[in-house]
Parts: sequence; structure tokens; C-alpha cells
Amino acid sequence: MSFHLTPAARTALRCYRGLARRTRTHVLLRWVTAPLAAVEAALPRTGQILEVGCGHGLLSLVLAAAESGREVHGIDIDVAKIHQANQAAAALEQDGRVSFAAVPSDWRPPASQTWDAVVICDVLYLLGAAAALDLVRACAASLRPGGMLVIKEIDTRPSWKYRLSRAQELAATRLAKITQGEVVRFVAIEELTATMEAAGLRTTRQQLDRGYPHPHLLLTGRLP
Ligand SMILES: C[S@@+](CC[C@H](N)C(=O)[O-])C[C@H]1O[C@@H](n2cnc3c(N)ncnc32)[C@H](O)[C@@H]1O
Repeated sequence: MSFHLTPAARTALRCYRGLARRTRTHVLLRWVTAPLAAVEAALPRTGQILEVGCGHGLLSLVLAAAESGREVHGIDIDVAKIHQANQAAAALEQDGRVSFAAVPSDWRPPASQTWDAVVICDVLYLLGAAAALDLVRACAASLRPGGMLVIKEIDTRPSWKYRLSRAQELAATRLAKITQGEVVRFVAIEELTATMEAAGLRTTRQQLDRGYPHPHLLLTGRLP
């Protein structure tokens, strides 16, 4: 768990002040329980970044608050979350460097727009393996030369951390209905890596679970 708020996290979390207590608590818990600072640090410091499955927009806001050279666009299938993300973005006072849009569940990055980086943070396990890998391919295809695809997922090891994460996500999707998604199926990291490599990306992986009860894992792929 991370109880340390980086300056960018402070700025981003302040943007939710006018929103419901439930949303404020959710984004704060998200910061505490997921290694978003490490995800932020893995992304380029300048350029146009797409966040797929941005939820309430916390990571997108952190990305923009951390570096003034970033322009961030977040998309999600959850219309209510996107509405709240837009409300928070309006409080960021960053000259429209952050924008959000609701999309259908089979959305893929359109060929008309390319990105310096695409980030997918804790989304793929909600799609089913085939759709998850298809989305990864489409995101890789939307990168500019030298661009990066950054994926934060849950590893299947150590197994007790994996079982805990799976139980929590089943509760979030089926009981609490906090998260929209088709399924809860964590995609094997080897499958993700192979798909990224087949798309021409050079990949690296980093375990980020130290100090967290969840087996967080960061996969980065860069186009040569
Ligand atoms: C656990 S949340 C992660 C939110 C955010 N990325 C973060 O790290 O804080 C997963 C998000 O994925 C979204 N999602 C589920 N299926 C999706 C799809 N097919 N396309 C885009 N987003 C999707 C959900 O609506 C939810 O907001």
C-alpha cells in the first residue's frame, strides 16, 4: 500500500473535492492500493497519451499534473465514471490537456489518430482473453514510431495474492457493481508479452507488488 501522496497525486485528488464522498473515497483508495506512481513514471514525460479504461480518471489526471508536456485522453465504457472524470478534469486548470470520453465496449483506437503512449491499467482482466489480446494489438498498432504501450495488470503469482485479487474483483463486478466488465479473467502475462512482441514491441516487465497485497505487474513495450 502507498500512503505517500506525490505532488501530482495531491493535485489530482484535489480535483475530486466537489464530487460525492463515495467517489472521493474510491479514488483515494485507488491511489493507496495500486502503484499508480510507478505507472506514471514509466510513461513518457511529453506527448499525447491515451488511457484505455480510465474509470474516474485518476491516473489520467495524475499523468497531466505530473508533467506539463503531456496531453492525456481517457476513455471508458462507464458513462457515469466519465461524467465524474470530466467534472474532475474541469477542476485541474490545465488548459484542456486532459479530456475524457465514453465509448462502446468493443471500442478500439481509430486508425485516424496515433499516440506517443497508450496506458491500460487494470482493465484487461475484465474483457476476456480474446478481446483483451485484440485490444492490446489495436493499441500497439496506434503507436507512433518510438511510442510506448504500458500495461499494469495482476500477475498470477504469488498465488495467495492472486486469489485475493480475484476474490476482490469478483466482489467489485458482481456484488458491489463498482466496476463494469464482461468477466473476471486475468490474462497470463506470457500471453500478453507474446502479443506485444508479435506486434513489434520490445517488452520489459517489472514486479510492483512489494508492500501491496495484490501481485501488481507492469509490462512496457516500446516500438523501435
Ligand atoms: C479497475 S477499473 C481501472 C480504472 C483506471 N484504469 C485506474 O487504474 O484507476 C477498470 C475500468 O475498466 C473499464 N472497462 C471495462 N471494460 C472496458 C472496455 N471494454 N473498454 C474500456 N474500458 C472498460 C471499467 O468501466 C472500469 O472503469
